[in-house]
Amino acid sequence: MYRQMLFLISFCGCTVFAESNNFVVTSTEATKEQKTNITELTHVNPQIYSMQIFANVSNRFARTLITSKVRNSDSTPHETTFSVVLPDNAFISEFEMEIEEKIYKAYVKEKEEAKKIYQEAVSTGQSAAHVEQSTRDSKIFTVSVNIEPESKTIFRLAYEELLQRQFGRYELVINIHPGQLVEDLGVEVHINESRPLTFQSVPFLQTGNEISKNQENLNDFVQINSISNKSISVKFTPDIEHQLKFAKSLGSAKENGLAGQFVVQYDVERDPQGGEVLVRDGYFVHFFAPSELQPLPKHVVFVLDHSGSMIGRKFEQVVEAMKNILSDLISKDLFDIVWFSEGASVWNVETNTFVDTNISYSHSNYGHLEPTLKEANLPEAASVSDENIHKAKIAIENYENMASTNIIGGLEVGLFLIKRTEKKFPDKYQPILIFLTDGLPNVGIDSGDEIVTLVSKLNDGANRAPIFSLSFGEDADKDFLRKLSAQNLGFSRHIYEAADASLQLHNFYRTISLPLLSNVTFKYVDEVSAVTKVQYPILFNGSELIVAGRAPENLDVLLNVTGRCTTGLVNFHTVQSKPVSSLERLWAYLTVQQILQERDRVTNTTELTKKALDISLKYSFVTPVSSLVVVKPNATDSVDTKAAVARPEGGIYNFH
Ligand SMILES: *[C@@H]1O[C@H](CO)[C@@H](O)[C@H](O)[C@H]1NC(C)=O
Ligand SMILES: *[C@@H]1O[C@H](CO)[C@@H](O)[C@H](O)[C@H]1NC(C)=O
Ligand SMILES: *[C@@H]1O[C@H](CO)[C@@H](O)[C@H](O)[C@H]1NC(C)=O
Ligand SMILES: *[C@@H]1O[C@H](CO)[C@@H](O)[C@H](O)[C@H]1NC(C)=O
Ligand SMILES: *[C@@H]1O[C@H](CO)[C@@H](O)[C@H](O)[C@H]1NC(C)=O
Ligand SMILES: *[C@@H]1O[C@H](CO)[C@@H](O)[C@H](O)[C@H]1NC(C)=O
Ligand SMILES: *[C@@H]1O[C@H](CO)[C@@H](O)[C@H](O)[C@H]1NC(C)=O
Ligand SMILES: *[C@@H]1O[C@H](CO)[C@@H](O)[C@H](O)[C@H]1NC(C)=O
Ligand SMILES: *[C@@H]1O[C@H](CO)[C@@H](O)[C@H](O)[C@H]1NC(C)=O
Ligand SMILES: *[C@@H]1O[C@H](CO)[C@@H](O)[C@H](O)[C@H]1NC(C)=O
Repeated sequence: MYRQMLFLISFCGCTVFAESNNFVVTSTEATKEQKTNITELTHVNPQIYSMQIFANVSNRFARTLITSKVRNSDSTPHETTFSVVLPDNAFISEFEMEIEEKIYKAYVKEKEEAKKIYQEAVSTGQSAAHVEQSTRDSKIFTVSVNIEPESKTIFRLAYEELLQRQFGRYELVINIHPGQLVEDLGVEVHINESRPLTFQSVPFLQTGNEISKNQENLNDFVQINSISNKSISVKFTPDIEHQLKFAKSLGSAKENGLAGQFVVQYDVERDPQGGEVLVRDGYFVHFFAPSELQPLPKHVVFVLDHSGSMIGRKFEQVVEAMKNILSDLISKDLFDIVWFSEGASVWNVETNTFVDTNISYSHSNYGHLEPTLKEANLPEAASVSDENIHKAKIAIENYENMASTNIIGGLEVGLFLIKRTEKKFPDKYQPILIFLTDGLPNVGIDSGDEIVTLVSKLNDGANRAPIFSLSFGEDADKDFLRKLSAQNLGFSRHIYEAADASLQLHNFYRTISLPLLSNVTFKYVDEVSAVTKVQYPILFNGSELIVAGRAPENLDVLLNVTGRCTTGLVNFHTVQSKPVSSLERLWAYLTVQQILQERDRVTNTTELTKKALDISLKYSFVTPVSSLVVVKPNATDSVDTKAAVARPEGGIYNFH
């Protein structure tokens, strides 16, 4: 009556972070320069005899499909592990296995339900193994199965993501690491946009860990085919010899084959005004990245952790990054530097010293330090001049008073400085608060949730400051920082403790260093519905804002986009066109992403979780609220998987 589950797949939806030494070979390995015996190196069992990766990018929305074919040539069963590293923002949308010519398709289920099925299955069959490491800002998918003697198994995994424009370009990153040399290895990327491509960079391979180290230019190894000025295809088919060469240059062990990220970058022709509005089959999307705008003057307040745990390499890296960041400030800007350890100190440009604010440790004082801080006559924000920048670079090297971690103290002082500037020069400066910490709060207020609530209350009014949080190293509480930024118009990033930490910091800063517009508001006709976020606090140079929704055909959907630029309010318009492919999945993806972000801002998440789950199930996205399960019926079981596919929400579990 009931089917029995033989095995089941688990999806590691968690993000696993790598240590810097990931992919690094031991030195003995690297120095051994023997003639490579390829026959020996490729003689592994089970063997991946083919791995093909296809990606289609259209309207900046990418779908990547990985097909891996594995053979067990032995006379006993062997376990094989299929493991894929996904970009952090990607959602898996399809997974299936082909075993003995039968296809087993995975279903996206609600998390709890999936767990139940999983636990049930674990008691009767095999469970999955997990890969321990991954590349930065990625998540991994792992499945282990037994392959019968002399047989083959095929894995197919597809994931989808919306490419985020940064530094004036889109970047598609494909992780390749089969873990062995593969006879038939190929990557093929098709880009199909509705506007001419302004540039595409020669694809390159990188380790995925240390920035700008070990980049392998693929000029001579890829075929780039220009189909039209809006469409290209890129093919990369390294044979065994080339895989060995790349393994070596990227620093992985040769028997593990190629381990790296295949990167393709491109951008499309920009509309200087209102951007690109595309409408098709009941959906619209609006890409907005006007060119030719002057950067807004900004008031940047750096709130930097000066606690004891920062002493040493981390502090040196922050200092190194700060020197570059300070050099990137533009002449119209103002800046402040706040240190926090036990208390909080503010840099005084005149005396080139840090002035202790003498704030009390007492919990009850936080939230209303303003009168005290006003009386303290704290130093004025520094203007950007060669002399001031030079002074600041020296000042930040100071190692004094490195003690405990008074996060609320640092943030409240930082917000006070922002408000003071705003009062003095209303609407003149775009405020930005950059907050960096490597640990947990332990002085003042030690509850992350309380800090988030209090900071959000303090950071109110017309010109709220976006707070960008940087967690540094393994002890920082990433969840707390994500929430803090999510509720304060910003976002958070993790800085990996590695040799390139200062580059990571500087690169992060560069993405937010040039605000072009503030209070960007999109207005559409009343007939549109299910529209994603239409109000953004800031548009940064080199990035892009994207709005999507449902829209009737043959109607101009955009009324206007407004924002504040250097010369005051501006109003943008554009002409609508038709995209090269459907926009529905892009809309669904963006909607789920934004609901998930919104979930970080509310206390009762019930409703948003349900909304996110409904879309995840409908569009088969594996998101933080859903899971993926696949069940293989007994061989004797007559379940037709094709029929199961047709059932809504994976009805395979209801078969009798
Ligand atoms: C499926 O296999 C299990 C053992 O692997 C067995 O106990 C069960 O009876 C089988 N179910 C059917 C429907 O054949
Ligand atoms: C390579 O290794 C295989 C298997 O061990 C062996 O048969 C073959 O002779 C070796 N070839 C060379 C050139 O050493
Ligand atoms: C890419 O697009 C082509 C043509 O529409 C389609 O045949 C192919 O399956 C797509 N590949 C992926 C990975 O979606
Ligand atoms: C804005 O970004 C683009 C693309 O990254 C760059 O070329 C340009 O120089 C930047 N503008 C300014 C004012 O720096
Ligand atoms: C792109 O190609 C089309 C014809 O296929 C042509 O009309 C258009 O001018 C080209 N655009 C650019 C920027 O080269
Ligand atoms: C903090 O206290 C020190 C020592 O009492 C004093 O010199 C300094 O002026 C005080 N700082 C402020 C901002 O009041
Ligand atoms: C932002 O712009 C919208 C629409 O133009 C306006 O209603 C709102 O008051 C503005 N908000 C701020 C903080 O300027
Ligand atoms: C933008 O469009 C709205 C709705 O039509 C209109 O009320 C508003 O005045 C427009 N804004 C500007 C600056 O033209
Ligand atoms: C690219 O877009 C054209 C329409 O401009 C379409 O005919 C073609 O099928 C698309 N190719 C892919 C691979 O999606
Ligand atoms: C959260 O909201 C849902 C409905 O939106 C409600 O049923 C539930 O009781 C709320 N939970 C809490 C803890 O307030």
